[in-house]
Amino acid sequence: MKKGDILTLDVIDMGINGEGIAKSDGIPVFLPYAVDGEKVKAKIVHCKKDMAFGEVLEIVNSSPHRVKPFCIHFKKCGGCDVQHLEYPYQLEVKKQNVLKTLKKIAGISVDIQNVFHLNEWAYRNKLSLPFGKKGDRVVVGFYGKSSHDVVPLKYCPLHGEWLKSLIKIVCDYANEFKISVYDEKTKKGLLRHLVARMIDSLSVTVVINGKSLPKAEVLYERLKAQFGEVALYISENTKNTNVIMGDTVSLIFGKEQKQSLGAFSAAVSPLSFLQVNLEVMQMLYDKAAESIEGDRVLELYSGVGLLTAQIASRLPSAKITAVEIVPSATRGADNLMRDLGFSDRVKNVCADAGKFVEAQKGKLPFDCTLLDPPRKGCDRAVLEEVKNSGIKKIVYISCNPATLARDIKILSDSYTVESVNLFDMFPQTCHIETLAVLYIK
Ligand SMILES: C[S@@+](CC[C@H](N)C(=O)[O-])C[C@H]1O[C@@H](n2cnc3c(N)ncnc32)[C@H](O)[C@@H]1O
Repeated sequence: MKKGDILTLDVIDMGINGEGIAKSDGIPVFLPYAVDGEKVKAKIVHCKKDMAFGEVLEIVNSSPHRVKPFCIHFKKCGGCDVQHLEYPYQLEVKKQNVLKTLKKIAGISVDIQNVFHLNEWAYRNKLSLPFGKKGDRVVVGFYGKSSHDVVPLKYCPLHGEWLKSLIKIVCDYANEFKISVYDEKTKKGLLRHLVARMIDSLSVTVVINGKSLPKAEVLYERLKAQFGEVALYISENTKNTNVIMGDTVSLIFGKEQKQSLGAFSAAVSPLSFLQVNLEVMQMLYDKAAESIEGDRVLELYSGVGLLTAQIASRLPSAKITAVEIVPSATRGADNLMRDLGFSDRVKNVCADAGKFVEAQKGKLPFDCTLLDPPRKGCDRAVLEEVKNSGIKKIVYISCNPATLARDIKILSDSYTVESVNLFDMFPQTCHIETLAVLYIK
């Protein structure tokens, strides 16, 4: 097999990115948008010693799980991977991928108890989109394939109606007041990214290559007229970088945004992490909080404190230490615990989780620990300290099955997996959230 070959292939499996996998000359051929069980005609676009990548030219026999993608931007915008799969099959593919990953990387076979899911569309509360130009008009959209040209976006079915109104208001404002758009080549121009979060209220952050946003008060009034309560921020990013947010985020109009969860309400700054799907987040938090046992709880990677609050209210005699690296998130968590009267038994620590556990010098006097790291998984120091701590139970929330499996493998000298549940926080994409509960051996 070589680059440029046109082959007819039987798709025999699904990969972790939602692609189909066939075999030719004994090596796997990864085929984006092909489906297990299909026969396809494909062109080999890249060929290595032990794997190849193909582009589907024709579906010879179609899978019954294939559906017509809903969005006109599918395959171009990069936000969704599996809109061509019917939803129940998306869930099955993700479940099988978690099982395969745990087997391959951690060497364990588990039963997945449930795949919790709810809203197939319009679930995302957060967006980050680049500004660009179409002729002389300011637009926001997504980067075209292998380019940094912005393709205008008017609607996205993952976000729902609010996105449409937001994009229109922001672009109309930028066009009316002739606000310049940042050009990556010349490094000139003001508007870089539009970042927004629609939760109990709307927050909008305009990332700019400069210090101020002209006529920002007009933008704020228009957003308020459409959305009610709005927090408008600017973030100054003058660096030549792909990182979206600048080092500073300043609230210029409105009040800092809050998100409630049952009886709790936490401040959420644009720099703080919040799950993108609040309904499924609630299911995840219920199950995670229900799994926590004991009077001494260590929560690492704790965010704005909504889950901490849920655990503290479920276990009224528990003392909780919650560690989070982002200062604005820890500040929000502190205020939340104070408002709820939990400050005497919940200690929020703003620190790197690895450095925090190392500083305890081999002593982690806790009954249970909750780990909810970012995609890269837990810091090695966290795993080493927890592994040798004698903590009875670990509740691990992960948005990346590969790093979860790696971390379980590291912990496996001392812990065994008791249960695994999945939460489809990200329908139409290949991503999935996993909750694994581990017990000391
Ligand atoms: C997946 S989020 C989970 C947050 C929270 N548990 C929740 O449910 O919203 C991971 C969190 O870990 C924080 N974080 C990332 N690296 C960290 C580190 N080295 N030490 C402590 N916290 C970190 C992030 O800021 C983020 O709030």
